[in-house]
Amino acid sequence: MKKGNLIIKNANELVTCSGFKAKAGVEMSDLHLIFNGAVVIEEGIIKAVGATEEILNNYDENDYEVIDASGKAVLPGFVDSHTHFVFGGNRAEEFSWRLRGDSYMEIMQRGGGIVNSVRATAEASKEELFKIGLKRLNSMLSFGVTTVEGKSGYGLDYDTEIKQLEVMNELEKVHPIEIAKTFLGAHAVPKEYKGREDEFIDFIIEKVLPTVVERDLAEFCDIFCEKNVFTVEQSRRLLNKAKELGMKTKIHADEIVQLGGAELAAEIGAVSADHLLQASDKGIADMAKAKVVATLLPCTAFSLKEEFARGRYMIDKGCAVALATDFNPGSCFTESIPLVIALAALHMNMSIEEIITALTINGAAAIDRADKIGSIDIGKQGDIIILENPSYKFLPYHIGVSIVEKVIKKGQLVFD
Ligand code: NIG
Ligand code: FE
Repeated sequence: MKKGNLIIKNANELVTCSGFKAKAGVEMSDLHLIFNGAVVIEEGIIKAVGATEEILNNYDENDYEVIDASGKAVLPGFVDSHTHFVFGGNRAEEFSWRLRGDSYMEIMQRGGGIVNSVRATAEASKEELFKIGLKRLNSMLSFGVTTVEGKSGYGLDYDTEIKQLEVMNELEKVHPIEIAKTFLGAHAVPKEYKGREDEFIDFIIEKVLPTVVERDLAEFCDIFCEKNVFTVEQSRRLLNKAKELGMKTKIHADEIVQLGGAELAAEIGAVSADHLLQASDKGIADMAKAKVVATLLPCTAFSLKEEFARGRYMIDKGCAVALATDFNPGSCFTESIPLVIALAALHMNMSIEEIITALTINGAAAIDRADKIGSIDIGKQGDIIILENPSYKFLPYHIGVSIVEKVIKKGQLVFD
């Protein structure tokens, strides 16, 4: 029997999320369900999908490992398309200040926030970052995440930015979760560049970006486009340069202040714009037209006690919405997919079907991998989760608790 040869049979609900590109607007509601379904995976790739009876007529169970999913719902693995999971130290103290009423931006303005994690990440050895990264990936896997996006951005200098990206490359070699890597060198303004933000952008463009591209360390370039961080013009300059060098782009857009990040994402053809708590109606319309995925991060809004992004409005206006955790040490120290689901269902007015689409095929589209992952379709990777319950409807119902029983990556059982 070959590695990655697997049949999953008798799934009470086989939630295929079928599709090869982002789903926008009403398309997000169709999960392409098969009752009593089965999937055949050969050498990690999905070979057949259909009703169990029909599949077993055509494929001999003796040639495969077999999982009987009777009484269970089966879905594509979740794609967490926005995280900052490789960092040193912690910001528990700052969190306690926020509980007392200090705002995230106030803490940042007085020298805390991202630069605090920058110090701790610079001090951490590669081995330490690798070890903690592994622990975090294991936790994500237990929530059913089979692919994650991970950003640098706790370096803001050459050595540490490269170190973070190298650690992600090393992690991917030993862990089943695949990692889409994003270079976020422009995540904050380092102290020595305060008031000279343009020069910092020059530094990133001239000194760091070329190495990232030459060594193929990241697929995406991202920037924190925000009042008191980087302007729209600075963001445009960096991201256009990254594009010229062959990278794809993302933007932390309109998170705290309405600055025009959504409009910029549409203008430059970013793959996704993320956060968008303050995105304007025009920005949302521009994104729908330009087919930029709107990646919403409800755990961050929750943790910052901000209003949630207008997910309902965005879907109604024809956007493709993805949901992700934004796992990071400051604004959102959680990798919990169950919490994302609970908040999207109870506070963003998204339907269960839309939420699942947002965490699977649209998450895949947010990292430009909708042709390979994010749905149970022939030709895609066999990245699949099996729930302990018979229906996907239990996902928001069991509030804040993971109901993922088994995780399969490229046809192999990696969490049970
Ligand atoms: O996505 N907004 C900027 N970046 C992160 C926060 C990073 C941090 O606070 O360490 C975010 O929320
Ligand atoms: Fe983020």
